[in-house]
Amino acid sequence: MLSVEENALISQVGSGTPMGNLMRQYWLPVATSDELQADGSPLRVRLLGENLVAFRTTSGKIGLVDHFCPHRGTSLFFGRNEEEGIRCSYHGWKFDITGACIDQPGGPEENNFKSKVSVAAYPCEERGGIIWTYMGPRDVPPAMPAIEANLSGGASHVSRTLRYCNWLQALEGDIDTLHSEYLHAPAIIDVSKLTPGTGMYYRHRLRDQFKYEVKDSPFGTSYGAYRPAEEGTTYWRLAHFLFPCFTMTPTPAAGSSQAIRMWVPVDDDHVVFWSVEASANERAGRTHQYQDDTTDWLGRHRPVQRVENDYLVDRENQKTESYTGIGGGFVMHDTMATESMGTTMDRSREHLGASDAMIIRTRKRLLEAMHALEDGNVAPPGVDEPSVYGTRSGWMILPEGADWWEGSADLRTAFVAKRDESEAVAALHAR
Ligand code: FES
Ligand SMILES: [Fe+2]
Repeated sequence: MLSVEENALISQVGSGTPMGNLMRQYWLPVATSDELQADGSPLRVRLLGENLVAFRTTSGKIGLVDHFCPHRGTSLFFGRNEEEGIRCSYHGWKFDITGACIDQPGGPEENNFKSKVSVAAYPCEERGGIIWTYMGPRDVPPAMPAIEANLSGGASHVSRTLRYCNWLQALEGDIDTLHSEYLHAPAIIDVSKLTPGTGMYYRHRLRDQFKYEVKDSPFGTSYGAYRPAEEGTTYWRLAHFLFPCFTMTPTPAAGSSQAIRMWVPVDDDHVVFWSVEASANERAGRTHQYQDDTTDWLGRHRPVQRVENDYLVDRENQKTESYTGIGGGFVMHDTMATESMGTTMDRSREHLGASDAMIIRTRKRLLEAMHALEDGNVAPPGVDEPSVYGTRSGWMILPEGADWWEGSADLRTAFVAKRDESEAVAALHAR
């Protein structure tokens, strides 16, 4: 298990930190295409602790630059989006999307001072309605990850929620399988009313009787949580952590989902949770409401339910309807669970047990990758193998005693047709 100091190291992602350096090896989602308005207004974006400004140029390219003008520091958020660049509204210095200063009114031409100044700028690519950026050290960025949910040909279906805690603390909720039997459950479970053969049925019928296997996988870590299904079969819940801050959860029936969840660090105390699917999915749990957006760094994707209003907990509902008494679906349950630990929880006070094996493994893998990069300049998992991201997760039925990783190979295969939920359940039983 990691020490308190090591846990702090893998949580902090600011500029110059070891974990921040690891994060900067990867492409990260920064905004959706439709957020960069046709009128050219710049957008404030904070990513990995850096305050940036995103804008779409006259020819449609994306710029992502430090908001701090290198002349005297006026924020480029207030800049003018002009022909293929952004011009600071204080003294008119103009920068292109590479960060080069391409116009500097008022300076003698012979000084050529403008070639000596630039603003930090990060390359962006737009894919399936999502704008990705690479903030890393390579002159030629690595290939983008082959994420099925973002490569379906059409626009990805995206929802986002700002969470007021450290990114890793929030992400760990996704690889903590035990909580779904409690946090997201009804207040009272009547097993006789569950539909036999469904995921809910297997999960709740033998609620506490699961065992757990974890492994390193090419993209990060994976777990299989299992318990008996029918005579001679086992119910498995398979889920993944994918470097550097992505997850795939065990909730869908295997084969019915082309989805990824991305926990993109805003700074050490805030994370934007991205839920991305290839096609629209009406699965329950996305019913929370948002506050009106502002243009602030932290002004978008803010849920109405916050710690300040106790997430609108309803104690009567908690007795009769839902385990938490918190409405707004799974995302709000998870938000309460991970924010109420404190912005960055005091890990010296936690007590990890057998059911936390995936969290323990994932932290260790992050730490090892961080050290390998720091000490030996070893590219972390997935950076130079974008195809490893082509995978899926979900629950499945396997013959009793079958190897879960081998036995799930076909169900983990991405870039094949997806089934709808009931077809996928039927197919799992027919295998
Ligand atoms: S502060 Fe930006 S041009 Fe002077
Ligand atoms: Fe959850």
